[in-house]
Amino acid sequence: MVLSDDIARFVRATGPEHTDVQARMAAFADEHDFPNIGPESGAVLRLLARLTDAETVFEFGSGFGYSASWFLRGGADRVVLTEFDADELGQGRAFMTDAGLADRCVFEEGDAMKTVERYDGPFDVALVDHQKERYADALRAVRDKISTGGVVVADNVMRGPIDFDALLAHAEATGGRGDAGGDPDALAGANDETHGIAAYLNAVRDDSAFETVVLPVGSGLAVSTKTP
Ligand SMILES: C[S@@+](CC[C@H](N)C(=O)[O-])C[C@H]1O[C@@H](n2cnc3c(N)ncnc32)[C@H](O)[C@@H]1O
Repeated sequence: MVLSDDIARFVRATGPEHTDVQARMAAFADEHDFPNIGPESGAVLRLLARLTDAETVFEFGSGFGYSASWFLRGGADRVVLTEFDADELGQGRAFMTDAGLADRCVFEEGDAMKTVERYDGPFDVALVDHQKERYADALRAVRDKISTGGVVVADNVMRGPIDFDALLAHAEATGGRGDAGGDPDALAGANDETHGIAAYLNAVRDDSAFETVVLPVGSGLAVSTKTP
């Protein structure tokens, strides 16, 4: 566990309640052992939509719409949901219809990396939450479509199908501080997902168009704002 139990419980206890439909989504996720972003990170998505006064949000990997529901709670005018599992997307459409939110959603079935090519942007927020090995490619595909002041947010940078200890040692060896120690070879033997997260963090931190902070909320969010 990266975040201490007490801190995680405190963030949850002080965070927003689910709406009725979000509570049903969360129960559905539990029932199907589905890794949605969770309410703590959901509250951050809501905040990002609110702070950017989001007109359009693009999601790489939407499942059945739980993360999208938080952007919509933050006032986003429109969310583009992408999902290559037709059943999940259909379930998302049903949930959004029940919530009265379907008219603010665009449901795109298929590979998000292909879907994004069909959009010019601008996007005020993009969520990267699909295959970890493709996170850096998603950044490259979307970076020029993000509005100035907009945000790219990536989930699972601290938890999920990844080796956190290897990522930590790699980050300490390659980060900007220079005095943090670490192990430049820490990723040797780590799985593809861990390499994918490391590649994403390296790419976004090296990109002078963005300022990045990692928030230890939920499974860990990398939040990157596009500067003027
Ligand atoms: C971690 S879940 C995302 C959950 C969602 N963002 C949420 O928090 O409610 C990842 C989802 O992305 C989908 N996915 C993975 N790679 C994808 C791709 N290249 N294109 C479209 N969907 C993809 C998976 O089928 C899965 O439903």
